Amino acid sequence: MKAIDQEILDKYKNLITEIKKEVELLKENNQELKEKIIQIKKKLELVKLEFLSKKGIISKLLNELPKLDPQVRKQLGTEINILKQNIEKEIKEITQTVEKKERELKYSCNVDLSINFSPDNAGRFHILTIVQQDLMSVFAELGFEIFDGIEIEDEYHNFEALNIPKDHPARDMWDTFYFNGGILRTHTSNMQIRIMKQKPPPIKAISIGKCYRRDNMDATHSFQFHQLEGFCIDKQVTFIDLIKTLYIFVNKYFGEDIKVNFVPSYFPFTEPSAEMSISCFYCSQKNENCKICKGSGWIEILGCGMINPIVLKNVGIDPDQFSGFAFGMGIERIAMLKYQIPDIRMFYQNYIEFNKLWGEV
Ligand code: PHE
Repeated sequence: MKAIDQEILDKYKNLITEIKKEVELLKENNQELKEKIIQIKKKLELVKLEFLSKKGIISKLLNELPKLDPQVRKQLGTEINILKQNIEKEIKEITQTVEKKERELKYSCNVDLSINFSPDNAGRFHILTIVQQDLMSVFAELGFEIFDGIEIEDEYHNFEALNIPKDHPARDMWDTFYFNGGILRTHTSNMQIRIMKQKPPPIKAISIGKCYRRDNMDATHSFQFHQLEGFCIDKQVTFIDLIKTLYIFVNKYFGEDIKVNFVPSYFPFTEPSAEMSISCFYCSQKNENCKICKGSGWIEILGCGMINPIVLKNVGIDPDQFSGFAFGMGIERIAMLKYQIPDIRMFYQNYIEFNKLWGEV
């Protein structure tokens, strides 16, 4: 015997080719994968047993070597060792492939984590965030300090301190969600009180945040919305300061040629009070059928007034020394007007298309 029997080599080749074909089939990802893997592993064990075990073919061949003459022994010995190494290597490779497939099967789920990236898919700021940021930068330019606000409030800061006593009819307008120990604030005016208590005058502050009211949802109402509150307290602050400040704000935010108009109104925490309108930036007061101003030429955008001396007293500021103005506006309303968004509900529906249309990268 000079070389390893061709029969043995063929047997091994056939076995391994059969196993490799089965490994190929694992790529198909069909339902019987688990079963197939078990079968392949069994077959690999058989190859190991038949060729590599103590009583296996390789051992038998090696045992026969001493009987042969030295020349043949050396040559055959080398061949047997090469075959043995080959078998071990191939079994190892196949085992790795099969175990990888097994792990995939166990741990992966059928989700495609890759994304076909295009700038169109990039995340954007929500339009409400953009409006808030723009408003903040205009007021920061005008020297207003920006304060955070709290949404879970007590009745005192949301109502009483703002001169809205328990049985006051104005509470109906600001009805909200009550729970044990607190309420959800109905306006950002609570922050007037909290900031005034925190900081002695002079104060020039704005605060933006969520508010809640017991409103049914429709195109212009929502139980949750955002407001911007601004106020200023110093010696000799007058109504003219209020008008001038808001006029500059409007010109910076809506456009230079925009006019303002004040109509008397009522808020318990300001005296006198007013509603401020701006001239229509859409039709420039020229279209009787304008969908934004409804032909009136004016758009109401905020409530304002001189801070009621009762409020100043409530927080320990002497109204004989100090006076102030305050204003509050709905962020959604501003956004709807400026960007012609037809329905307040669109802000909260989380439609990607909405954000693609109005959001900004
Ligand atoms: N808080 C008022 C509202 O929610 C708005 C306002 C703020 C009015 C400040 C006057 C002064 O309607």
